[in-house]
Amino acid sequence: MNKKKIFKFYKVVLKIVEDTKDLYNLNKLKKKILGKKGYLSFMLSKLKFLHSLKKKTFGKELYTAFNRIKMCINLKEKYIRKKNCEQENNIKFFDISLPGRKIRKGAIHPITNTIHEIENFFYNIGFKIVSGNEIEDEYYNFTALNIPKTHPSRNIQDTFWIDKKTLLRTQTSNIQIHVMKKRKLPIKIISLGKVYRNDNDIKHTPMFHQIEGLIVNKSVNFSNLKWIIHNFLKNFFNHNISIRFRSSYFPFTSPSAEVDIKEKNGDWLEILGCGMVHPNVLKNMKINYNEYIGCAFGIGIERITMLRYGILDVRNFFENNLSFLNQFK
Ligand code: DAH
Repeated sequence: MNKKKIFKFYKVVLKIVEDTKDLYNLNKLKKKILGKKGYLSFMLSKLKFLHSLKKKTFGKELYTAFNRIKMCINLKEKYIRKKNCEQENNIKFFDISLPGRKIRKGAIHPITNTIHEIENFFYNIGFKIVSGNEIEDEYYNFTALNIPKTHPSRNIQDTFWIDKKTLLRTQTSNIQIHVMKKRKLPIKIISLGKVYRNDNDIKHTPMFHQIEGLIVNKSVNFSNLKWIIHNFLKNFFNHNISIRFRSSYFPFTSPSAEVDIKEKNGDWLEILGCGMVHPNVLKNMKINYNEYIGCAFGIGIERITMLRYGILDVRNFFENNLSFLNQFK
């Protein structure tokens, strides 16, 4: 053993410490050098064979070298621990033992469901399904439907006007005019969509849905209309309802009727209007009203859905309340 050898050993060890990248290998190294059976103990054991003077100098050299090595190993340990911590913070902790998250399935909105069902029913009995505009010219929403500017029934429907001529349609009856204008006779259509009225209470929302039906041909009569409506409602409510036809008034039909359905509490709820297309409407569309005759109906989709499920407040449909909507899954 001499000074040079100790220094060389010290340098080699420092290089190994420097190259060690993880705690596992650093601990192994620590044990090898500073442990009970490590180099330090081994070299110290050799001291006893030396002359007492040499013993003193080499002993000192040895301790200094090993203390320095110890210090370097400790510093390196701190450095590796700090680095590991930083890395852990960067990687988001992912616990693979956790149970998976349940995939929440959505469901079709009850109104959409009703719309699909109605479409199916009418499609199966030969109706064509057409779509229409929600932003409408007042001509289609009123004038052509035999509701001239001065007609009081313009006030019945609280209209959202966009400008003097344009409005949000108050009824799907506007579609009748668009279809008749094309004059591809005979006509047998339904149209379903949103309509708007400035109304908001437990039975009304500013936006709601209607279905409009129109037949124009050479031989249609009121009993055909009654048959269609009767069968539709019996089918929709599974034969589980009382229906009543009540004579009524609409500017675009004559004669006109409204249909009510008995609610669970015994009250009658109006759900649709219908009638024979008014000759003035056919005339407006340049359809020969001596040859052709029409019948039409308009059904409130929310109303029949409410009756079917026993819903008392129509506003429930549009509040996006999950505990309400989950019932229809
Ligand atoms: N458009 C009417 C309303 O919104 C409903 C209606 C009544 C439609 C009679 C029709 C009809 O097609 O013939 O109150």
